[in-house]
Amino acid sequence: MPDQTNLSPADAAKLAASRAAIALVKDGMKLGLGTGSTAVIMVRELAARVKAEGLNLRCAATSQGTADLATSLGLTVESLDQIGWLDLTIDGADEVDPDLNLIKGGGGAHLREKIVARASDRMVVIADPAKVVETLGAFHLPVEVIPFGEQVTERLIRETLQAQDLGKRPILMRKRDDQPYVTDEGNHIFDLSLEAIPDPVHLARSLAAIPGVVEHGLFLGICDLAIIGQPDGNVIEL
Ligand code: 5RP
Repeated sequence: MPDQTNLSPADAAKLAASRAAIALVKDGMKLGLGTGSTAVIMVRELAARVKAEGLNLRCAATSQGTADLATSLGLTVESLDQIGWLDLTIDGADEVDPDLNLIKGGGGAHLREKIVARASDRMVVIADPAKVVETLGAFHLPVEVIPFGEQVTERLIRETLQAQDLGKRPILMRKRDDQPYVTDEGNHIFDLSLEAIPDPVHLARSLAAIPGVVEHGLFLGICDLAIIGQPDGNVIEL
């Protein structure tokens, strides 16, 4: 297991949050596993605890990357439909506000992450202190779109933003190696630079109503608890 003193402050905070979240896991649970660098630390810690204590867990992963990691560490990974419903999902976030609303999708997995989170009795976010904000929006908002007609979809997104006085900032197609980034579902992602989102509920509804938009990264009223790790190993719960 990693020693907290050898880690960067951000990684030490992620480890502290991960350990606190894993303490919520009980034998026999059905778990959702998140995606991202914090989730990687959490999955490693979870696998170590499962091995040490012989826990019997069933896990659903929010991305192929997490499924591969968890399987390689000996965790039992099944599809969400095989498991049906989850007791607890533990995932990272790009931003957390005081009402536990989130921006997610920095790792491009927010579609599966939202489905898994909604299929859980409890969704717990683990994060380092840099993720805590007063108002969502400094982090770009990911919007997953179907490739068919994506320029039309971009135009409709732009019109939606303009109608909410959010239209002056760039909308960028996410790229990897100069090619459009492709999600686990074969879709593309537009990243919306908004600076601040004064009315996340209104924006979430408007984006969800655009044909071609599969899912946006606003997680509103989904998170039940945010565990914010500190570099010294302590945690703060929101
Ligand atoms: C992936 C996500 C991640 O949870 C989010 O990007 C946070 O990642 P990290 O833990 O690497 O900061 O939403 O789609």
